[in-house]
Amino acid sequence: MNVYRTNAATPTLIDTHCHLDMPHFDEDRDAVVARAKEAGVAAMVTIGIDLAHSRAAIALAEQYDEVFATVGVHPNDCADFGPDTLAELRKLAGHLKVVGIGEIGLDYYWDRTTPEQQKRAFREQLALAAELGLPVVIHNREAHEDIRAELRAWARDVLPGSKLARRPFAGVLHSFSGDLEMAQEAYEWGFVLGVAGPVTFKNARRLHALVPQLDRERLIIETDAPFLSPHPFRGKRNEPARVALVAEKLAELWGMSVDETAARTTATARRLYGLEKG
Ligand code: NI
Repeated sequence: MNVYRTNAATPTLIDTHCHLDMPHFDEDRDAVVARAKEAGVAAMVTIGIDLAHSRAAIALAEQYDEVFATVGVHPNDCADFGPDTLAELRKLAGHLKVVGIGEIGLDYYWDRTTPEQQKRAFREQLALAAELGLPVVIHNREAHEDIRAELRAWARDVLPGSKLARRPFAGVLHSFSGDLEMAQEAYEWGFVLGVAGPVTFKNARRLHALVPQLDRERLIIETDAPFLSPHPFRGKRNEPARVALVAEKLAELWGMSVDETAARTTATARRLYGLEKG
């Protein structure tokens, strides 16, 4: 298995969720992007977690043709989320290479912010995404039931008739950790699911059982780099080139060629984020 293939048969992949602006990449960012391209990664979506990181994500999208950005405030960073934050996000979201709002959501693992603060910031950003017609990138950690309640209400009350409702998909549940029932409900809201490095872990039995049951037109792959490095790099700094390892594991679980798996996940990612062919 050679992840860094350079021959013409290299499948085209998209890393739909990474954090390229993080300091982990300050020493060798050019090389990281170059290795991704060599591995067949045609596009990388670098995800905002607060205003500063969202601005940095846009700067990288301006610097590298293959990089696109999302802007948003993560639930752990929403303590001072207010009207000024929302106004600034609206401004940043107008950039040509901004392809989504995120990552936004709920995270009950950490307690730097209260559930009430998190829900307020989440709802305001969901409403902004619907208004602007940009898909949402959802972070969910130990908050399954509240995420379901929030997205169910948004899909029922806010999304219909909005600019976002005219797009192929409304958003992605990133690094999906729910069950089949939650996946099926997410399809009803117009969502796709993101699969990341943990699917390659030998002990990820629950994910290995779930993935073959997921809709193959509703799944995209991601690294969440610098985090969640796939096997055999678990615990090391992750990078977008390693989305190829996620594609290979997914192909194995689906009983499909890597090429076909790449073609399907790449087509879904392009539809989600509105990325041009290239
Ligand atoms: Ni992330």
